[in-house]
Amino acid sequence: MAALIQRLSWLLAICVALVPSGIQAVDRSNFKTCSQSSFCKRMRDIPPGQSPYRALLETLELSNTRLTLQLINDNNKVRLLLELYRLQGNMTRLKINELKPLRPRFEVPDVLIADPPTEPLSLVSQDEGGVVLSLGSDARHVVVSAQPFRLDIVEGPRVLLSVNSRGLLAFEHQRPRKDTLSKISNTVSSMWDTIKNIFSSNNENDSEEGEVADDPENENDEKEEDQPDMWEETFKSHTDSKPNGPTAISIDFSLPAVEHVYGIPEHAENLKLKTTHGGDPYRLYNLDVFQYELNNPMALYGSVPVLLSHSPQRTMGIFWLNAAEMWVDISSKAVEKMDAAQTPSEVPLTDIHWISESGIIDVFIMLGPKPSDVFMQYTSLTGTQSFPPLSALGYHQCRWNYNDQEDVRNVDQGFDDHDIPYDFIWLDIEHTDGKRYFTWDPAHFPQPREMLQGLMDKRRKMVAIVDPHIKVDSGYKIHKEIHSKNLYVKNKDGGDYEGWCWPGTAGYPDFTNPDMRTWWASMFSYDQYEGSMENLYIWNDMNEPSVFNGPEVTMHKDALHGSWEHRDVHNLYGFYVQMATAEGLIQRSGGVERPFVLTRAFFAGSQRYGAVWTGDNAAEWSHLKISIPMCLSLGLVGISFCGADVGGFFKPPSAELLVRWYQTGAYQPFFRAHAHLDTPRREPWLFGPENTALIREAVRERYALLPYWYLLFYKANHTGQPVMRPLWVEYPEDAITFAIDDEFLLGDDLIVHPVTEEGSKGVTVYLPGNGGVWYDAHTFQRHVGGQNLYVPVTMSSIPVFQRGGSIIPRKNRVRRSSSCMENDPYTLYVALSPQGTAEGELYIDDGHTFNYQLQKQFIHRRFIFAESTFSSRNISPDSQFSTASWVERVFILGAHRPSSVTLKTSDGNVSSLEFDFDKATSVLTIHKPGVNVGADWILLLQ
Ligand code: GLC
Repeated sequence: MAALIQRLSWLLAICVALVPSGIQAVDRSNFKTCSQSSFCKRMRDIPPGQSPYRALLETLELSNTRLTLQLINDNNKVRLLLELYRLQGNMTRLKINELKPLRPRFEVPDVLIADPPTEPLSLVSQDEGGVVLSLGSDARHVVVSAQPFRLDIVEGPRVLLSVNSRGLLAFEHQRPRKDTLSKISNTVSSMWDTIKNIFSSNNENDSEEGEVADDPENENDEKEEDQPDMWEETFKSHTDSKPNGPTAISIDFSLPAVEHVYGIPEHAENLKLKTTHGGDPYRLYNLDVFQYELNNPMALYGSVPVLLSHSPQRTMGIFWLNAAEMWVDISSKAVEKMDAAQTPSEVPLTDIHWISESGIIDVFIMLGPKPSDVFMQYTSLTGTQSFPPLSALGYHQCRWNYNDQEDVRNVDQGFDDHDIPYDFIWLDIEHTDGKRYFTWDPAHFPQPREMLQGLMDKRRKMVAIVDPHIKVDSGYKIHKEIHSKNLYVKNKDGGDYEGWCWPGTAGYPDFTNPDMRTWWASMFSYDQYEGSMENLYIWNDMNEPSVFNGPEVTMHKDALHGSWEHRDVHNLYGFYVQMATAEGLIQRSGGVERPFVLTRAFFAGSQRYGAVWTGDNAAEWSHLKISIPMCLSLGLVGISFCGADVGGFFKPPSAELLVRWYQTGAYQPFFRAHAHLDTPRREPWLFGPENTALIREAVRERYALLPYWYLLFYKANHTGQPVMRPLWVEYPEDAITFAIDDEFLLGDDLIVHPVTEEGSKGVTVYLPGNGGVWYDAHTFQRHVGGQNLYVPVTMSSIPVFQRGGSIIPRKNRVRRSSSCMENDPYTLYVALSPQGTAEGELYIDDGHTFNYQLQKQFIHRRFIFAESTFSSRNISPDSQFSTASWVERVFILGAHRPSSVTLKTSDGNVSSLEFDFDKATSVLTIHKPGVNVGADWILLLQ
């Protein structure tokens, strides 16, 4: 019987996910367009320039750090409450809610890491037209205009951003349903009759008595026309009961002088966002989209409602803290403006229209002005990228599925036989006992600990999948407990919500409930998760949540999370699943070990809990190409630990595509090969010795560069700066860089332009920075910055360039896994600027615990090269850590031939070092300084 059930659920899985020969485009009819989503249509239909909202200046209250002001909608007399805060770090927060909501509206918890610290707001002037507030010292002001309501943030004579300048503010206030309105008033008056009778007091003249009947808002509710779908909406076979009626919100932002906007992932889209005029707005609604299409605004698995604007003068950000389904319209135009000499000129203007189905307007305006400021501002609100275990930055080998322990053993051995390093092997859903997560299929994985121990002996690790849909089976402990603790999401009628997913009928734990998260976290302890060990890490998939038979393959919006509808919290579900899982991994180690959790669904703040990947892509060149902008867009909004399935999930890749994908993936933050169940096997050695060698080389380049990757993640964790960056982030005034998304920076020292075209004979790499130089990371050839460089390529080429002026540490003795390389020596690559200088850093800790944080156990050094002298300095003198690693070699690129190289160590020893100089490339190779990499030392070139 069990076998039959297993087979049936397998068949269900296959029916849903099987790819027949050839990739098919997404079935668009499964997903709503804006006009099929009634709130989107209503909000998009608002005519610009007719805002009914007026600021009631007489209601203005200003405390030291907060301004409040009522807005009135002159059409229906409904009042809103606006709150404005000046936040530390050059940010402004604007909140708008109903003044007297019928029911509270959802405000997103848990995403901000703390209440953002405020700074004083002061009134500069006020008249009947509006108020002017000061935003600190540098001539920055907020101007609130009363009629129609509008808010402008200005700096000196320049408007940086305007809110509601097009008059698209809308707030669908909650109202009783028309057909029940009269019933409600009757009920209220009869309740009053009862109360009066009970107390039989003399309160006939009680002024509150008439409130319901006299409330002008209610009168206007009577007059306001209901539109179709406001109280019930059907899409395909699903009806959304909408018990609370329409609750949508919308507002517009105008960005003068801005032509380039970025962010609001996740979309399979280029880096620079397009105008949405004539098509659908960008949609953010976490969805499991089968065979997604590229270059369209459809929603995907994750949502980060953060948009960045950039011009040569300034970078800014808008963070729309709302977890409901949302749509974002973007339009750009040129407007005429007079310059100082009164000559008209055309300047760009970008308009954004932001629409959400429910919740409140809660917007953070991040004023930059530099890209790095916006990253700091945003991560001060939502946290920085978690600092992963070093091993998680190595290579990950996954497929759906490795079939049994023997398969795992053979694949593991295959890596050794072919001399390819890897750190993690992954098990997909088939490893479980009938898709019951936290269990092992007894026939194929009877001895999980033995298997994990085998990997541990080789200093390798495993990831197992744990999805959030729980098989409804009274014999399954996880289900039984969640059910008995009443922790499942409920359907609209109050029973446990059930949907279909991989296991067949499944319940969905209510991860928005802290009790659910605490219990879930406890399931990862070694005694609960049988067969688990400390080298087992976790993958959370299908956490949009995916519901195969639900509307748009997700949960019904009228399902209930306590008193909130799923509608209010939808985009937060995956965030909470990963949060609870990461917490579980931390707890199982007593708070010592750093977790590694991969998630498919995400929201603002998900960066705190681990890595994301771009879901079910396909083995097509276009999918390889789009992996770059998809990860760049995520990096801009805090999520640095991003990758795409190497090789493409659906369909078999050609050998050429697979090799090119490894070469690209080796330079993207999360580096994992993955493949659909139905595709032929594709371990790196299955494509002939030449391709094996090419893949080996790409993976080895990744491992050699791990010290730099680790430093970049350490810095991302500390400063909020993305690991993988668009060129404009470092060259913000160079307009050529603004739309580049076929090459990228790692930190600010490496430019990577992977080959993503079939049959490519060469790529054109833009090397930014006039007056600077770049060195080919493989040949050390020097090129000047500020040029398009044509680079001929062969199958082994990965065009990578190191910035002149930087120092990068590498470990060139690549071994089985990252931890096998722990004590290996370093080679330093000193790439000289035209001025003959360079700087770089090195960060080392134990690679896996929180001791770097708890006990300051780490090494952080700065390398400086200036005036023919290299020095290594400790930049964190109060930290303590020792390493056995030493310095094996120093390459100085762009050097002159010295007559001698002298090493001075901190104990006063002076010695002469051997070196070679290659005149053709101007590369000086200094052999064996031999010093411990944690020590102070100096090299003198004479
Ligand atoms: C989803 C995931 C994919 C996984 C499959 C089976 O399609 O996106 O990565 O292999 O489910 O778990």
